[in-house]
Amino acid sequence: MALAMYHLFAVTAPGLEAITQQELATLGILSSSRLITPSGVPKRVRPVPGEPPDPLTPSGVPKGMSLKSVRDTRTRFGCPKGQVSEEAGGIAFEAGLDGLYRANLHLRTASRILVRLGEFYAAAFSELRKKATRLPWEEYLQPGQPVALRVTCHKSRLYHSDGAAERIAGAISDRLGRPVDLVKFEEGAPQFALVVARLVHDRCTISLDTSGALLHRRGYRLETAKAPLRETLAAGMLLASGWDAASPLIDPFCGSGTIPIEAALMARRIAPGKNRRFAFMDWPNFDPALWQAQLDAAIACERPSPAAITASDRDAGAIRIAQANAGRAGVLEDIQFSCRAFSAIEPPAGSGWIVTNPPYGVRVSPAHDLRNLYSQLGSVLHSLCRGWHAGVLCSSDYLMGHAHLHLDGSQSFINGGIPVKLFTGMVR
Ligand SMILES: C[S@@+](CC[C@H](N)C(=O)[O-])C[C@H]1O[C@@H](n2cnc3c(N)ncnc32)[C@H](O)[C@@H]1O
Repeated sequence: MALAMYHLFAVTAPGLEAITQQELATLGILSSSRLITPSGVPKRVRPVPGEPPDPLTPSGVPKGMSLKSVRDTRTRFGCPKGQVSEEAGGIAFEAGLDGLYRANLHLRTASRILVRLGEFYAAAFSELRKKATRLPWEEYLQPGQPVALRVTCHKSRLYHSDGAAERIAGAISDRLGRPVDLVKFEEGAPQFALVVARLVHDRCTISLDTSGALLHRRGYRLETAKAPLRETLAAGMLLASGWDAASPLIDPFCGSGTIPIEAALMARRIAPGKNRRFAFMDWPNFDPALWQAQLDAAIACERPSPAAITASDRDAGAIRIAQANAGRAGVLEDIQFSCRAFSAIEPPAGSGWIVTNPPYGVRVSPAHDLRNLYSQLGSVLHSLCRGWHAGVLCSSDYLMGHAHLHLDGSQSFINGGIPVKLFTGMVR
């Protein structure tokens, strides 16, 4: 019997698409990755940051950011004008149930994994309901299970999203044989199944979330210091900086410890989803033996950390929080924490990587106060870390200019709604 294949979509924050694609390839899940364009047409190209659709951020506007600034950012990042999408990105791929489980368990940079249930033309509510009723809802939803519906309509005759949601809820009820218990969508640790429907040019795409709580919620970061990074972005920075998960790594502005903790998880080959639940575990076809096999295989790959990972911050409260987070992640022993100003760092002999997220003014303090900090950063790295690789996340070319490090700022992301760049290269 042929194994069922699922059409999956790894949703990523803008800028992380190529890194997630690389992760999927490394995991052996992705034999031929396809980038989905805003029109839904697959393209076999390398992802362009910020270009393809994210069914979960319908407007594509990260919190706290205007659509114009998203467009400006994407144009600045080199998206051709006609391809500037109002939606954020992700990677479409096909996999069996094992690949679906593995993607959720192992991906460090994706926000969630959706499974596409169907795509069809619908220009009338009756047509939407009839076609949505043909989808195999009973394979994914238990009767009585609460369901949240997120529906967006764009350039379609059916422009009323509440009306469309009502028809899709009706279709689910028809199929499950009892009225669906609709609940409001809330991020966090959802206790409901999330159905995502998009109507674009009268074509309706219906997907179901397989992940549950967003994948950056690994379960360890219960406390945060100032301006924390998402775990997915921290992992993306490490991967994009070219760190080999074995060489020494320093984060001298570690805050709540996200970068060194993600680094230690990578160095020990600990799967980021090892300690959490996923939405697919509630599906009627959940295969506990297959899941356990994936988990056992992941645990069998774990190893002691070969990397010397050092993390520091001048704020003693942040260090306490970082240590508590590292303890929960099971990597406290793998990171050497200390409370100190970055100018007092003591890099080990030889070379390694500095991957860090210094304050850059927008979220913590105004940029003009930080010129000295960045020029000091430059001189400290020049005097103590010559020959080291650097990966510095910053929102400002102006501030990075004061560091005189001449790093490459071509990789762009969004952090907490703010366009940022990862400046990478060798300290010379
Ligand atoms: C943007 S936050 C880092 C957030 C961190 N990546 C996280 O995920 O929680 C910047 C950190 O730099 C620290 N910091 C600011 N100036 C510093 C200095 N001169 N030396 C060391 N740390 C400093 C702050 O205390 C703050 O925790």
